[in-house]
Amino acid sequence: MENNRKVTLTYNDGKDNLDMPVLKGTLGPDVVDIRAFSKTGMFTFDPGFLATASCESQITFIDGDLGQLYYRGYPIEQLAAKSDYLEVCYLLLNGELPTAQERQAFERGIMRHNMLHDQLMSLFKGFRRDAHPMAVMVGVVGALSAFYHDSLDINNAEHRKISAHRLIAKLPNIAAQAYRYNKGLPFSYPKNGLTYAENFLHMMFSTPCEEYKVNKTLALALDRIFTLHADHEQNASTSTVRLAGSSGANPFACIAAGIACLWGPSHGGANEAVLKMLDEIGSVENVPAFMEGVKNKTHKLMGFGHRVYKNMDPRAAIMKETCDEVLNELGLHNDPKFKLAMALEKIALEDPYFIERKLYPNVDFYSGIVLSAIGIPVSMFTPIFALARTVGWISHWAEMIADPAMKIGRPRQLYTGAQRRDYIPQEQR
Ligand code: CMC
Repeated sequence: MENNRKVTLTYNDGKDNLDMPVLKGTLGPDVVDIRAFSKTGMFTFDPGFLATASCESQITFIDGDLGQLYYRGYPIEQLAAKSDYLEVCYLLLNGELPTAQERQAFERGIMRHNMLHDQLMSLFKGFRRDAHPMAVMVGVVGALSAFYHDSLDINNAEHRKISAHRLIAKLPNIAAQAYRYNKGLPFSYPKNGLTYAENFLHMMFSTPCEEYKVNKTLALALDRIFTLHADHEQNASTSTVRLAGSSGANPFACIAAGIACLWGPSHGGANEAVLKMLDEIGSVENVPAFMEGVKNKTHKLMGFGHRVYKNMDPRAAIMKETCDEVLNELGLHNDPKFKLAMALEKIALEDPYFIERKLYPNVDFYSGIVLSAIGIPVSMFTPIFALARTVGWISHWAEMIADPAMKIGRPRQLYTGAQRRDYIPQEQR
């Protein structure tokens, strides 16, 4: 909100100064409101949004220097230890923790929406069997808009709520079926009575011949992965969802856009890239040579670094504990891949290259190891991130749509292309 501070822009060519108000949030740095600047005939230039707040939001707060992450004011450490994913979904969507009654009604609402329309299953069959599950998810989630015409009025709060519930409910099912189609397994159905995470494991791994017996420790670890990935403020995919939604596009199309953005290796694709990197390195003896390559910028150390966290990623600390629990449960502490990951982590934390650049392990460095230990195939790591982040995306989308001041997102540019020139007929070129 506005306070009395102002930033004054002065020009060195005699133009009038421009005062710009400084806005204060409840937490975090102050923000200079540069909207008046557009009237001067100039624009600000900030590729990658290094110095730009793209919106006002009340959902998630990150302090990158202190390594803090809050959902609706609650520290991630407390939510990871005391809450569960569905409660976190309610919190992100509604702003408050639910009462027992609200929780029950919410859970029932999600359960009621977890089946997929039978016609949607034909869509899966249009993909090649070897399609990456993220490719299938982009297509199938976008296609949901062709199935739910009854809830596409973005100006109707009830429609927005139903679409949000449908997305949270159906994403695990869609991700699981993308995997099963790839494996040549028959499609599976959700089983109400299981928790959200247990149900996902059941849909992934049950077969018509054999019940999947859910290991509670593994299901809890997965639930924690969902919680840690549920939201992360204005990251690339969330900003993509907001930008797509700012044109009035329907929520299913917007979430499909978010999934597409998340797929990249600098974002949600990093967990998959970590495991591929560990495979590529092979064993601890090869770590020094690999690190030389990182310093020569031949490749990056995947699972390290973050645009906002410059001290530590609080999600990584929680994920490391979960990693320990899961490896203990499965007796995998001597697993060579885990040993290799720990050797990489140790060197990176002590090496001046990483210290100077404030590069620390991020959540994806450990989540890949946990998922792999649970038996989740590498190609499903990013789909799992996508299903967990869906609640964050849809919460941001709903917050934006409900804001009467919403405007279509339309960045400007610094044009450095050709001057105006006349068309040259082909024979004269
Ligand atoms: N390995 C080696 N060097 C790195 C890495 C890395 N993972 N990340 C950054 N650097 C170097 C980079 O080369 C640059 O060096 P110099 O100053 O010599 O040019 C310096 O650190 C600053 O990097 P940057 O690219 O300006 O940082 P950024 O804020 O634009 O990028 C990032 C953030 C996450 C894209 C990047 O750190 C990265 O690509 N990390 C690996 C991918 C990864 O793990 N992503 C998951 C992020 S957490 C999950 C999520 O939120 O999606």
